[in-house]
Parts: sequence; C-alpha cells; structure tokens
Amino acid sequence: MLVITNWKMNPLSLSQAYKLLDFYQKLNYKIWVAPPFLFLQDLIKKYPDFIFGVQNIYFEKRGAYTGEISPWMVKNIGGKFTIINHSERRKLKEDLKIANLKLKSALKANLISVVCFGEDNIIKDKQSLIKEWNKEYKILFRDLNINSFKNKIIIAYEPSWAISTAKIGPVPKEQVVLFINWIKKRFRGKILYGGSVFPENIENYLDISLDGFLIGSHSLKPKNFRIIIEKIKKFSIIK
Ligand code: PGA
Repeated sequence: MLVITNWKMNPLSLSQAYKLLDFYQKLNYKIWVAPPFLFLQDLIKKYPDFIFGVQNIYFEKRGAYTGEISPWMVKNIGGKFTIINHSERRKLKEDLKIANLKLKSALKANLISVVCFGEDNIIKDKQSLIKEWNKEYKILFRDLNINSFKNKIIIAYEPSWAISTAKIGPVPKEQVVLFINWIKKRFRGKILYGGSVFPENIENYLDISLDGFLIGSHSLKPKNFRIIIEKIKKFSIIK
C-alpha cells in the first residue's frame, strides 16, 4: 500500500525534518514524503530510500512569477511528485481551473501528480454527491485523457470537510466505497483515501479496494504514525 505523507507547513527547521525522517527510516516502509519546498533538496540527498515530492507547484515553466516554483525545478532536483488541488490550496482561492493547469504542467514536466478530489461540504444525498463529483471531474480533468496517464496520476479522495483540521472527518467507509466504484468507471490508476487518517480508524479502510493513503497531521506524530504503518503492514501480510 502506498503511503504519502503531507507535512504541510511543518517542521520549522531542517534538523527537525531530519529527526522525523530518521524515525521514518526505522519503520522500514517505503514512504512518499511531501516536505516544505525549502528542505527538499537536502532531504533528497540525505535519504535516498524515500520518494520525495512537493505540496504545490505553479503551472508555468519559467518566468516572471514571483514566489512560485516550477514543476521542472522540482523535477531537476530529484523530486518525483507533486500534490495538486489540496483543499488547503483551494481555501487560498485556487480553483479547479488552476488545478487543471497545474496538472497539465506537472504531466509535461514528467512529475507524478497526486490529485486531491472531493466535495467541499458534507452531502448526504447520494445522487447530489455524485452530481458534485461529476462537476468537479469535468473541470479538474478538462482536455485530459487521464487513463493515458494512469502511471503519472494518482487520485486521492479527500473531501475538504474530512481534513483533520475541520474536526468532522473521516469519511464513512460506505462513502469511500461509493467513490471508489464511481471513480473506477473513469480512471484505471491508483486511488488513495485521505482525510483524518488516524491509528483509531485506519483499519476501517484496509479491506476496501484502495491503493493507499494520503496522511497529514498524524504523519508528524511519530507514535501515531508508527501504529498506522504497523497496521498497514499487518494487513498486507494477512492479504
Ligand atoms: P489530515 O490531512 O491527515 O491531517 O486530515 C490530510 C492532508 O492534508 O492531505
């Protein structure tokens, strides 16, 4: 199972990042890590056993875009993937059209895109929920045949409301299954679940056809993250 950690704007120093990765190393599991940009180059050099990527990119290749990072820059220093359309970016007013441009740009730069997908608010009615997903899908993947990039795109079902900071999540298992069934009719690549993945709930999601998890806050908490990885490992052995 694929485990991708999103460190968000943490930790505050490179030495703390080293500490966290030293701990990850002891877990003996191939983990993908999205640290803050500033630490990326050092971490890639120091920890060759991990796959590193970024939490965000810009959609242009180069030029007068103050403060932005090009996907080609990420690629050129050895980054392998970028997260796209994270709900915390959407909160900063990045919309689906921008996410679509970013995705196209990342594909051109040959970076793997971990595309976050999901409704912003809780929708109880199934038909309305599917309608919302269809709407999002159309804009996010406009002009793209995503199946021809099935090794370069990973879709993470991660509704904004389910992120740990919203304190509502995670998404009930039945709804994740509904999403998996819906997306599998459209996309043949890897599907992850993200949003409040904690030691207490990870087991709920292990026996459905997911390819892994996108983990935020608890990837920064060694004790909890160890339990999550141990449970995933145990499940993989049983399977
Ligand atoms: P969370 O975040 O695990 O803290 O809910 C997930 C994410 O940011 O991708």
